[in-house]
Amino acid sequence: MGRLLRFSEITFPLDPVATFGRAGPLFLEIGFGDGRFLVTLHRRYPEANLLGVEAAAASVARALRRLAREGVEPVRLFKGRAGFALRNLVPPRSLLAVYVNFPDPWPKSRHAGRRLLQEPFFRLLSTRLADGGRLLLTTDHRDYFEFAVAEGERSGLFAATAPPPPAEVLTTKYAEKWRARGRRFYHAVFTKVGEAEEAFPPLTKEEAMPHAILTGELSALGPFAKEVHPFPGGHAIFLERAAREPEGYYFLVRVEEEALELVQEVVLEVRRSAHGLYAGLKRFGDPLVTPGVRRAVAALVEGLVEAGFRIEKRSY
Ligand SMILES: C[S@@+](CC[C@H](N)C(=O)[O-])C[C@H]1O[C@@H](n2cnc3c(N)ncnc32)[C@H](O)[C@@H]1O
Repeated sequence: MGRLLRFSEITFPLDPVATFGRAGPLFLEIGFGDGRFLVTLHRRYPEANLLGVEAAAASVARALRRLAREGVEPVRLFKGRAGFALRNLVPPRSLLAVYVNFPDPWPKSRHAGRRLLQEPFFRLLSTRLADGGRLLLTTDHRDYFEFAVAEGERSGLFAATAPPPPAEVLTTKYAEKWRARGRRFYHAVFTKVGEAEEAFPPLTKEEAMPHAILTGELSALGPFAKEVHPFPGGHAIFLERAAREPEGYYFLVRVEEEALELVQEVVLEVRRSAHGLYAGLKRFGDPLVTPGVRRAVAALVEGLVEAGFRIEKRSY
């Protein structure tokens, strides 16, 4: 397994020994940016298995290059959002420590809902931390610091203290940036003191590709128009259609599922198969079959039915 976690290679939740190739205390860093703190953590705790979660693809690519350059082995990265990773990848009561360094502060009050460290997050986190496990927050943003402490305490599941930040958290890219501008740093340690009753079970992973088999003439399909298909908990955006050789089409679809904290760009295809016309998800780009992906396939098939195709069989 490479350093980047792929849905097709992992279980929900992860099996840490299979994932890291060894047993060891599990640490998580959320929003690792260019990855330099993961290197610092590894040097400080060489026995630890480090999981990094980062939403921005460019940062993930930079961090992967850095980890390869520095020869850091026991690190696995997931490109995506923290809530998704905690819920689906992290086994219950498995984490010893979670680091959040300089989270996006979302300073405008109308954006406060986008902040990471909110009460629902703390409830989920309480189920994934081992007894006595901790989250360490470092920020230059006083409002965010106070907000996070209030949210953690509101959950009733964490006790917060505010010791001075340890030296190692002040070596990240943003720490250096803010130090150069003379900003002050705030640090909080949230220690788990209770656990939410809700278990927050992970998604069930499905291997079968959702699809339908249809009859009809491909030439009956009209021109493509970009379309948004809403569904409860998200929407699918049909962005582009491309011709498929020798016959058929690919559709580039962005599936945004707020409820799952998951955004995926997937490829759907329409092609001839031995049984008829296949319309469904393509096993390309490491798709995760979710309710939203199934809705996207349903929208594709409904469009074909409107164009005069007939469904022979469907599984989505
Ligand atoms: C201000 S940067 C700090 C980066 C790094 N920790 C540092 O100190 O240099 C915040 C990072 O968090 C990432 N991020 C924001 N929300 C996230 C989420 N829900 N899950 C994972 N990463 C997230 C952003 O993409 C960004 O790289």
